Amino acid sequence: MSFDKVAEGSVAAGKFGSEARPPAAGGFRARWRIWFGLIGYHLTAWVLSHPAPLRPLFTLLRRLRPITVAGTTVLLGKGADVREVLDRFEDFTLGEVLSPRMPWGPFLLTIDWRDQHDRERALFESMVARGDDIARLRGIAASVCETAIAEASRAYDGRRQIDVVRGVCEPVVVAVADRYFGIPVVRADVPYTAQLLREIAGIAMVSPPEGSERYRRAKAAIAELTRHVTDTIASEAARISPAPMAPAQPGLSLLERLVRAARAPDKPLWLDDDFVRRYVTGLAATGGATIVRASTNALYELLRRPRALRLALAACATLDRAEREFETLERDPDANAYARRQSLVALEAARDELRQLIYEALRFRPMLPLLLRYTPRDVLIAKGSPRQRTIKAGSSVIAAPTAVMFDPAEFESPGEFRSQRPLASYVHFGFGLRTCFGKYVADTVMLEIFRCLLKLPGIALSEGWGGMINYDGPVADNLIVTFAPFNSNTNVE
Ligand code: HEM
Repeated sequence: MSFDKVAEGSVAAGKFGSEARPPAAGGFRARWRIWFGLIGYHLTAWVLSHPAPLRPLFTLLRRLRPITVAGTTVLLGKGADVREVLDRFEDFTLGEVLSPRMPWGPFLLTIDWRDQHDRERALFESMVARGDDIARLRGIAASVCETAIAEASRAYDGRRQIDVVRGVCEPVVVAVADRYFGIPVVRADVPYTAQLLREIAGIAMVSPPEGSERYRRAKAAIAELTRHVTDTIASEAARISPAPMAPAQPGLSLLERLVRAARAPDKPLWLDDDFVRRYVTGLAATGGATIVRASTNALYELLRRPRALRLALAACATLDRAEREFETLERDPDANAYARRQSLVALEAARDELRQLIYEALRFRPMLPLLLRYTPRDVLIAKGSPRQRTIKAGSSVIAAPTAVMFDPAEFESPGEFRSQRPLASYVHFGFGLRTCFGKYVADTVMLEIFRCLLKLPGIALSEGWGGMINYDGPVADNLIVTFAPFNSNTNVE
């Protein structure tokens, strides 16, 4: 499929400006339609990025009417009902909602046929060499973060501030896309590639009205990325010869593994280069700006809470120690197997301790506070409970992770920042069969981003507007943090 025809104009065109510039053939009514559409777009994007007002709304719903039907929209206030909806794959579907926002073609998230979803998900999982891939992702994220921080210590030293979005998170995800997903940096330009990833993730989260400048920019980004991915697949395909399906090879990118799988004589019929293009483009949409937005949101919420920041700094110190001990034992040929295993357990526990603090901070501003589902037929939910209701076919159901993570039945004293909540209780990555495929990527990369940023001495949100997250639609645009001189001991507890 080619998007060339819709790809007019440059992705790098400036922000906002003439967002509602009408299409060439549009008149007064078309212009108004776009303006109204843009109001809805910005409102939705604002709510997704500032979810605090949703919390009292869900509390009210939980008390008064846990399953609220307003026309064809259904709102769920109770965590248990949200989990039920997310868990019932065939009764609450996603393709209807997401396909228009993913115009490069069917991708895991838009497939509602259970058997095919399972087959494609299994194929995707089989492309991952989990242990090796996680170590590789850790290496990529840590090295890019270190470079960014070293840069901050030199170039930014006079001002002692850094933009977390453009200075750290975006270079990291572009490197992950390049070295792990297999999408080379477009035009050898990191900020340009980051902009493409923003546009494509932005439209997948909230679709701007057709005809708006923002819509054209997103379409242009999709077209450019599609060309880029198609060319990469073709040049990779030219280098290899067919071989039977094999376990994921650690040294290769996901794209390279998929291209090989698509050439295996024993491959499934549906696995071809078009499938690889759709899936790698899908990875760019789901795996780039999502990590940037989640890391930025979580860091902001952490830095606003002095106690939470102290806990995170202590967790970083524990993790550094555990890592040093583990590496020392790994290098020691005389170390016994039991000591090695114990040090690995301690290392994983230290990682989980920091990860829990990141998840807890993210709970107050989740990457996706609301998830949507569609009902293809009449369905009964909360069966057997006093609140059971039938949802009519053709309804849109808002199943909000925020409703789960602020339901006191699931999270005790949900308004408090707590460091002891079990990791498994969070639903940042969804629930049920659609639980995020890229969780291992996000978990690994975000941990390294936090470790590195928290090494900035005296890290704090900048004064004024810079210290608030600025969003471009639903995508994080910038967040400025300040730090003390590098020779100071401000972060040492
Ligand atoms: C912090 C970052 C991320 C968050 C918070 C996140 C969150 C989510 C959520 C909530 C879902 C379920 C959507 C639903 O049920 O409607 C999901 C699904 C998915 N995510 Fe992520 N995600 C993140 C990063 C990633 C990354 C890095 C990748 C790719 C490497 C990725 C790939 C996917 C895919 C392919 C699915 C669809 C799974 C399926 O339908 O079986 N995500 N993600």
